[in-house]
Amino acid sequence: MKANWALYCDNYLEGFHIPFVHAGLNQVLDYSAYRTELFEYGNLQVGVAKGGEACFDLPPDSPDYGQAIAAYYFWLFPNLMLNFYPWGLSINIVKPVGPELTRVSFLSYVWDPSKLSVGAGAEIDKVEREDESVVEATHRGIRSRLYDRGRYSPEREKGVHHFHRLLTSFLNL
Ligand SMILES: [Fe+2]
Repeated sequence: MKANWALYCDNYLEGFHIPFVHAGLNQVLDYSAYRTELFEYGNLQVGVAKGGEACFDLPPDSPDYGQAIAAYYFWLFPNLMLNFYPWGLSINIVKPVGPELTRVSFLSYVWDPSKLSVGAGAEIDKVEREDESVVEATHRGIRSRLYDRGRYSPEREKGVHHFHRLLTSFLNL
């Protein structure tokens, strides 16, 4: 895509845009329950299913046992994403080609094909295209002389803030 790789990660790391960009996904996720958990070099976004939508059948020893989890979105610094759905695992590998060009590889591993078309893991190609279009638009937008950065949302941009802290620490900025 015609955008910087870090903007792709920024977009991945927040759920803020889901109601605005992903109408289909927003119908199956409980936006108010969406949450981000931070680890040292990675983080996890947890998508909670709306009532009756597809979710994991979690074992009793899971920390989320009893909750209707629709998706686990793990990000490992700097460029690897592991997306777990009830049907299996989808991996995104983000490779910078140039400052304004990024290639993302997608690998899918299906263990239950009967769940491919339900819940947060359905239509991931469509969701991906929606993301790519806003990431390219953001890349054009930040080049504008009218652009100025704002504050991070403590509620919704925890993951983006975490990514930027890791970047600045590794780049010694
Ligand atoms: Fe998205």
